[in-house]
Formats: sequence, structure tokens, C-alpha cells
Amino acid sequence: MSLYERLNARKNGQGAPSSEPESSPMLPQDSSEGQLGLNARLSAQRAEPPAEGMDESASAAQSESDPSWFIVHRDLESAPPASASQSRNPPVDPLAAVKEKAAQELFGRIGTRLNDSSLTEEQLHDLARKELAEIVAGEQLALTTAERNRLIDDIGADVLGYGPLESLLADSSVSEIMVNRFDRIYVERNGRLQETAYRFTGEPQLRRVIERIVARVGRRIDESSPLVDARLDDGSRVNAIIPPLAVDGASLTIRKFAGTPYTVHDLINFGSLTREVATVLDAAVQAKLNILVSGGTGTGKTTLLNVLSAFIPGNERIITIEDAVELQLQQEHVVRLESRPPNIEGRGEITIRDLVRNSLRMRPDRIVVGEVRGAESLDMLQAMNTGHEGSISTLHANSPRDAVSRMETLVLMAGMDLPLRAIREQIASAIDVIVQISRHKDGVRRVTHITEVHGMEGDVITLQDAFSFDYSAGYDQEGRLRGRIRPTGVRPRFAERIADAGIVLPMSLFQDQIFDFDEIGGIR
Ligand SMILES: Nc1ncnc2c1ncn2[C@@H]1O[C@H](COP(=O)(O)OP(=O)(O)O)[C@@H](O)[C@H]1O
Ligand SMILES: [Mg+2]
Repeated sequence: MSLYERLNARKNGQGAPSSEPESSPMLPQDSSEGQLGLNARLSAQRAEPPAEGMDESASAAQSESDPSWFIVHRDLESAPPASASQSRNPPVDPLAAVKEKAAQELFGRIGTRLNDSSLTEEQLHDLARKELAEIVAGEQLALTTAERNRLIDDIGADVLGYGPLESLLADSSVSEIMVNRFDRIYVERNGRLQETAYRFTGEPQLRRVIERIVARVGRRIDESSPLVDARLDDGSRVNAIIPPLAVDGASLTIRKFAGTPYTVHDLINFGSLTREVATVLDAAVQAKLNILVSGGTGTGKTTLLNVLSAFIPGNERIITIEDAVELQLQQEHVVRLESRPPNIEGRGEITIRDLVRNSLRMRPDRIVVGEVRGAESLDMLQAMNTGHEGSISTLHANSPRDAVSRMETLVLMAGMDLPLRAIREQIASAIDVIVQISRHKDGVRRVTHITEVHGMEGDVITLQDAFSFDYSAGYDQEGRLRGRIRPTGVRPRFAERIADAGIVLPMSLFQDQIFDFDEIGGIR
């Protein structure tokens, strides 16, 4: 099957993505407001008096007698609209006191078992329901059976589940959940931040949820280790940080695991890629070029890595190495490896570097590393330079040039005492292509550069853009960038390697003209 046919086949198997909703009914206030307004509000809220039920150590710092606090507050007093603060007072639940009491009681009875990772979720739920039924029966409430069951469900969701986060986790349009404080929950939808009306009943409930999440993965969070990374059963990534580091109370960030990963056609539909770029990247992956995806946090590096990995032919043996599994490859010949943090006693850590080294003994055709951020960069470069071609990885950097210097820094961190020039030579000969992705002001994530790593000139690594984003057209009325990524007109040297691999790419792809896919019976 030709490249174009493959792209075409993938496209046809793919439904159109849902369009961005105009507004969310859940929003306490208008969502049209830009990033700036939101930030202003966020800082204003931080200056509000601490709410009741908050951790004492957190509120002590902002005691009412502290005059500096009032100054900050008055400066920003108009920022949070009254309607927003009103909507923050949830309707009073007549059974709230009973629920809290029953939750505490349940905690007392089975608290230790909640953190027992040998129990499955199901066993845990059964156990909790049995105990809860007893506790609720002991309360002698005048409730119908339906009400009683409802009560048990609610308490169960609080103690066993993720409380108010449950519905946000279930909402597929939400990609990220940010709990700034127990009563300030934000989400990201379609690349935009929105405040939600959800809240925890108080700091204790938020802390219970956090403790439960981290305990399930065999970690703990307390004053001596107040920050933890964990993963939910569904693959979502969680970071929790609590006082004293988080000054205003515990904070939680959940990067939700996207159920079905975006395909190349989704990215094309979102405007993140053009078909020309997709075609070149597909060819580059097939021709076994070593590719580095570079971008900032949340710009879509991992998503793009997943799309690039999907271009790897099905007959090649792929080893994926990640901190927390995110990649979802459809090929059959895949071995997935995941690093491991040290346990509570500080032992048993297996780093990405350990896994990269191990993978070399696993006869890989391709090594896909989720993100290089440490000493493993050196091993990756060495692997790429010693016959393990076609490796793909991501790196946190803001431009292709920045990616190269980040890589240098990372290799220096490996502590091998290599001269800088030797490191640069390794980088220049190992990496073929840098794909830069950015999240633009209009919320759209776009590939902005396809850059070839040429080689060395003196002591400097030379880079040559084959494609770069054209910002000159400015923004349209909806505030979206009008421009697109265009070929620079310089035919990259890797085009040769693509041709050597037997893949035919028309020259016009690399020239600054709109490429007509129809001409080649192309994608549509
Ligand atoms: N091209 C894209 N268009 C829209 N949303 C995207 C795109 N790429 C990724 N996302 C979403 O952005 C979030 C961050 O993506 P991810 O690939 O994990 O970023 P990174 O690895 O750079 O931190 C995810 O929720 C993902 O679904
Ligand atoms: Mg990532």
C-alpha cells in the first residue's frame, strides 16, 4: 500500500471530531474571558479569606490580623464577580452531617484496608457497602430503601471514589482537572481553562481523595513527603501537593488519559498538522529517521509521538519506555516498559535510563522513549548512533535550537565528563529531525517546525528548517491564527534517505506552493 493510500485508509476509518461547545451549563460564569482575565481572577481568589474547614497550618499564614493580606485583598476586590462567589455556596444537603459522620465511621472501620493494593476495586466496594449498610442501619434514619441506597452510594463515592471529581473524570470533553483548593476546581476543555461549580466539602475530603489515590499506587503523602505523582486505574496522571508546600491547602492536577488517542487525521482536522507535514512525517518514520518531538508542557508532544509511532510498520519490534504509560500503539509487536519510582523506603527505583539500557538487549527494531529528561539522553544518542535507527522521543524545549541545547545539558547530566564538542557530535549524528509543536494563543496546538539536524560547522550544530510556521498572516476575527506551516523551499537532505527507503515523495511537497493531493490520487 502506498503512503497516500495508508493515510487515506486511516482517514476513512475515522469519524469527525465533535465541535467545540459554545458554552458549558456547568460554568458559574462566562467562559469567553481570555487567559489574562482568568489569571487575574485566580490571583484575586488567592487573596480571599481562607474558607472554613481548611487546614490550620494553611490558614495561619493568612490570619485576619495580618495587615498585608488586607491590602492585597482590597486591590483586587472587584475581580471575582459576586455571582461567582454566590454560586460557590452549594445547596445545603440535609443529610450532609449524617454522610460525614458515616464516612468517618467507615474510615475508622476499614481505613487500613482502603490502602491495601491486594484488594481489587470490586472487593473493596463490596466490603465498604457491607460496612456502610450496617453503619446506616445503626443511624435509625427514617428513609425509604431508595433513599438509603442513595445515601450509601454517596458515602461510598466519597470514601472509595474521587468525590466531586467523579463526574469530571467521566466527562470525556475534559482533558485536565485542576484542583487549586478544595473549593476551586478548574478544567481544560478544548484547550481552554474553565472554572467549574464542583467543589469538595472541605479540605478533609480533598485530602481523603488524595490519600486514597496515592495509597493505591503504593505511595504515601504527608508532611515529610508532600508531593506525589501517581496514576489512576484508567491511566490518568495525577500530581498531588499538600501543605506546607501548597500554601492554601492541598492541590491536585489530573491529566486525563484520553480514551482513544488522537489519530493523524484528528490532528489534521484540529489544524495541528497539514497533510503535507503528515505525509513527510509518515515517510520520515518509515525511512527510520531518528526523530525528536520538541515542545512545552501540554503542547501535545506525547500525542504527536503516539501518532508518529503509529506510522511504524507492523512487522517491526517496538519497545516503548515511559515514566507512566501513555502511548497506545496499535501494532502487535510492542513491548511496553514503565519506570518505577523508589518505594517508601527509598529503594527499588528503576529509571528510564535503566530501561533504555535494558531495551538494547531486547532486540528492538525501534525504541520509543516517552520523554527524555535526564541521563537516558546519552544512552538514547548512543543507541541511535549504533544501529538502532528510527528511534523516536520527546523533549521539553521551546524551539528546535532550544531542543539541541537542552539535549546537551541532559547529556552533561549523565556525568560522563564528555567534552562539549563530543556531545554535539553525538547529537548531530544521532538526531535527524526535530519536530517542534507549540500551543498557540488561540488554544490550538500546532506543529511549527520540521527541522533537519544537518551536522556540525565548527563547534556549532547546524539546523535547517524544512517547514516552518508562517505567522505573518496574523489572526482572524475569532482570534485564531490564519497562517499555516509552510515548506521553506529548501529540500532537506533526509529526502534522500526517504527515497533510499523506497518511498516516493513528490518534490513539490518541499516547495512553497499548495500541494495538490488530487494530483497523486491523494488523501481526501
Ligand atoms: N493537536 C492537539 N489538538 C488538541 N488537543 C491536543 C492535541 N495534542 C494533544 N492534545 C491534548 O492536550 C493534552 C496534552 O497532550 P500531551 O500529548 O499529553 O502533551 P505533552 O506530552 O506535551 O505534555 C491532552 O489532553 C491531549 O489530549
Ligand atoms: Mg507528555
